[in-house]
Amino acid sequence: MAPLPIAPSQTISPPIFYWGTPVVLITTENEDGTSNIAPMSSAWWLGNRCMLGLGAISQTTINLIRTKQCVLNLASENMAGAVNALARTTGSKDLPTAAEGTGYLYFKRMNGYKYVPDKFGHSGLTPTDSELIRPPRIAECPAQMEAELKGVYEMMQDAEKKGFIALEVKVLRTHVHENIRMSGHANRIDPDKWHPLIMSFQELYGLASKKTSESILAKINEEGYRSFSNPVDGEAETGEEEDKFV
Ligand SMILES: Cc1cc2nc3c(=O)[nH]c(=O)nc-3n(C[C@H](O)[C@H](O)[C@H](O)COP(=O)(O)O)c2cc1C
Repeated sequence: MAPLPIAPSQTISPPIFYWGTPVVLITTENEDGTSNIAPMSSAWWLGNRCMLGLGAISQTTINLIRTKQCVLNLASENMAGAVNALARTTGSKDLPTAAEGTGYLYFKRMNGYKYVPDKFGHSGLTPTDSELIRPPRIAECPAQMEAELKGVYEMMQDAEKKGFIALEVKVLRTHVHENIRMSGHANRIDPDKWHPLIMSFQELYGLASKKTSESILAKINEEGYRSFSNPVDGEAETGEEEDKFV
């Protein structure tokens, strides 16, 4: 391996640490039975669990804690228009009257957020029924995960200024567009075909269209991770015998 360049480093204090994570459009059910959509990006997965970092006063957080259900719809790089339409909106009715001292809600009002009760109509996205839960999926998103709330962890407990929550959800069922599946495999996504929208420091990016290099980690068979995830329905019919971890 050729020596890597080392540049001089400096100490800085970035106000945000959004180094690049996928944009998730979370759908939840409002109290009146209508649907909400929120773009967010503080999300990561481990096994069949996803951790979501959300403001405590976001309508999505309130809905998720009340109903225990959401869909994690992943945006692709051609969906920036819809994401921008949803940016700086909230399903929170309290926004227009948020007074100084009400934390994140006041921050939103001061930063030009608008109360939008119909996020589907506003963004032009298409709701489609979920199979196991009440919030709808977003048909345009190439990957949609129906999920159930399993844990709520208050973040920044040691700090004076609180207001963010880490929510652990379990993925119950995953739907994907046909064109991102890996051919010859019943349960795999082809990363060469999947082009997630990535948020980096509030800016929107796509990924490079091809792999940067080979991956040593990718030499591990994906089915080897099955025990941390969901079982395969009708496993005998999947034709994945050769993929089993032995
Ligand atoms: C691309 C993008 C990523 C975002 N990421 C997050 C995030 O990770 N966590 C968060 O609390 N808000 C995030 N936001 C802001 C939320 O969308 C915002 O709080 C919104 O008002 C939530 O909607 P709701 O109140 O209807 O749930 C993000 C916004 C955009 C456009």
